[in-house]
Amino acid sequence: MNRKRPILLAGNWKMNHGPKATRDFLSQIQLEKKNHAKARIYAPYLSLSAATSLVSEKQLPLQIGAQNLHYERSGAFTGEISGPMLSEAGIQQVLIGHSERRQFFGETNESILLKTKSALEQGFEVLLCIGELLSERESGRTESVLREQLARILENPDCKAQFGARLHLAYEPVWAIGTGVVATPDQAQSTHAFIRSLLLQALGEAKTRDTLILYGGSVTPANFKDLLACSEIDGGLVGGASLKPDSFRALWDLV
Ligand code: PGA
Repeated sequence: MNRKRPILLAGNWKMNHGPKATRDFLSQIQLEKKNHAKARIYAPYLSLSAATSLVSEKQLPLQIGAQNLHYERSGAFTGEISGPMLSEAGIQQVLIGHSERRQFFGETNESILLKTKSALEQGFEVLLCIGELLSERESGRTESVLREQLARILENPDCKAQFGARLHLAYEPVWAIGTGVVATPDQAQSTHAFIRSLLLQALGEAKTRDTLILYGGSVTPANFKDLLACSEIDGGLVGGASLKPDSFRALWDLV
């Protein structure tokens, strides 16, 4: 396929792989550079420095990102991590708005907007996650939920300016995350096309064309090829199948 955009394979390790397991993973994995694609892993905070040192030692073509950040730069926020701390650790990429953050940590479209704005202002590249619940899909509300999740972001001039440059999206239907139920390529393709139509209305053609929309939710080496064959799918955000060097490598081989 003649692709309009580069591919991004992004692993989301969630609350897995402390520094030791991170070092083991990165010692084992071999990845060759590809001109049309990037590989990235969103690692737990505590594993970030182990990850960045091994990546540079082994010269791996792999970016290391964080799974979250606080929108303030410092202050009385016990247990939180800020952008300046991540920058100091050499991190330039951050995941924002994952459905588990929304579901278990009370993140809302409002707090996600604050985080996205703050991360962009501080120079990070943001992968913003959106996606509907099973009940929302079954009651025909997928499009309105996605529209709502993007509304404030697409109204905000600072965010708008960064689409296609340092702001990209991951569509993750919540019913497909960690369930083994993957969206069919047709379901994913048509939902991605809907998301891109929202971008087009708000951003115009150039930024819309340059914005990556990754698919996430039970991606494995067995289904990734068919998903990647869809013109609107620009890569994968992969949880479970990114945890073992062999399967991450198998996904990279399909890119
Ligand atoms: P999964 O997770 O690949 O294990 O379904 C994806 C994600 O939550 O990013």
